[in-house]
Amino acid sequence: MTLDREPAAPLTEPERQLFFIEELKRYITERQAQTGQPFRFCVETFGCQMNARDSEKLTGILLAAGMTPAEREADADLVLYNTCTVRDNADQRVYGRLGVLSHYKKQRPDMLIGLCGCMAQEPTAAEKIRTSYRFVDLLFGTHNVYALAEILCRRIRQGSGTVVSLLEQADRIVEELPARREYPFKSGLNIMYGCNNFCTYCIVPLVRGRERSRRAGEIVAEAERLVADGVVEIMLLGQNVNSYGKDLEGGVTFAALLRRLEQIPGLERIRFMTSHPKDLSQELIDVMASSKKICRHLHLPLQSGSTRILQRMNRHYTKEGYLELVDRLRAAVPDIALTTDIIVGFPGETEEDFQETLDVVRRVGYDSAFTFQYSIRSGTPAAGWEQVPHELVQDRFDRLLELVQSMAAKACSRDLGQVREALVESADEKREGYVTGRLGSNLMVHFPGDASRIGQIVPVRLTQSKGFYYMGEAAE
Ligand code: 5AD
Ligand code: SF4
Repeated sequence: MTLDREPAAPLTEPERQLFFIEELKRYITERQAQTGQPFRFCVETFGCQMNARDSEKLTGILLAAGMTPAEREADADLVLYNTCTVRDNADQRVYGRLGVLSHYKKQRPDMLIGLCGCMAQEPTAAEKIRTSYRFVDLLFGTHNVYALAEILCRRIRQGSGTVVSLLEQADRIVEELPARREYPFKSGLNIMYGCNNFCTYCIVPLVRGRERSRRAGEIVAEAERLVADGVVEIMLLGQNVNSYGKDLEGGVTFAALLRRLEQIPGLERIRFMTSHPKDLSQELIDVMASSKKICRHLHLPLQSGSTRILQRMNRHYTKEGYLELVDRLRAAVPDIALTTDIIVGFPGETEEDFQETLDVVRRVGYDSAFTFQYSIRSGTPAAGWEQVPHELVQDRFDRLLELVQSMAAKACSRDLGQVREALVESADEKREGYVTGRLGSNLMVHFPGDASRIGQIVPVRLTQSKGFYYMGEAAE
């Protein structure tokens, strides 16, 4: 069959995409009738919560087009990698997986392979894929995830080769297309896209573009729809949620948005990420302190504890400023769990700078920390600076990790013996008759219960600390 129809009348972008979803569905239905087999797909997510949410949108589109999820890549008719490029090892993982896919494709030449997301949006990686991974059929970026059906239609129509659809800029925000949530009871919700900060190590502003906030009314309406559909916990997503609204008329702030979301009946828990320390306002701290729904958890990337390095990173805060912010947060929200991201081996980092980082980690006592070795990203300022030798980076990384792990174990005994609310997410994989819930602090707790509990918020007594999770028992 052909797929050569174009929308007849001028349509809005969501309408246009719904048109292509219908086109694709015609094709899939016909093809399934011919082969007697379902058309199966796999969407693989690399990277952060933003990507996870984008993957839900990609999956929603493919399901709406009549496709069936595949158990394994090897069985899929379409494999889509939604990629991350924040560090080089994220890229390498994808190249490795593409190598495996190329073998499958030799056996089944009609298999379609797509690559989208941050790596595709990065010019060097995109070029490499176009020239050295020619078996990739679809290549599209972060700005047009919504256009998957249209891009697939083009590739099917074309019959061979790679369809490349990379927008240099996100010219619009397109929502209101189907999305398939991974969990019925919780969801991510994008409140803004892009980033304006230009930390000197970071590729994200280059691949995700400038900050664009969604209108508060639209966000509230989407949250209400999610709640009506059974969602009790919402994670507000943005590269820098604290600068939400700065690009909107009317001066709505992130704190004001939170106050509006708090009013939604049936919404039990609100989380958000990521926060930039430089934009974290007292207004936000006050809202967190008075809120009954905002989880007592804040992810507050430190990156480095050395003011000198922070300046070279273009972070716009000092060691002292960060510590003072933590003090104000803890004064207002005493039981708050703090987590962070830290980079070691940033160009120019000395042992003294590194000691400052260890000092902040000790003083703050993070509940957990993601630690990274600095990774050169081409196109960013720090890529051209003199690098710290790898052995030094490795050594510092090992020392930091040891400290972080010992502090995290301590933090995970803080609430021992207390009753805390957990949202039950799944049956416990390892223990028959147990379920696994997420605490407000973001730690997990395993306790006796059956699958009927999934999606419920249950008070749990934390009876045992296992270092980075708890064991407990329901305490109704
Ligand atoms: N090298 C190492 N880590 C990085 N991050 C971002 N860019 C780099 C890089 N070039 C880390 C930061 C950020 C997290 C998502 O990834 O800590 O907060
Ligand atoms: Fe990776 Fe950053 Fe893209 Fe998230 S936004 S997927 S962390 S590169």
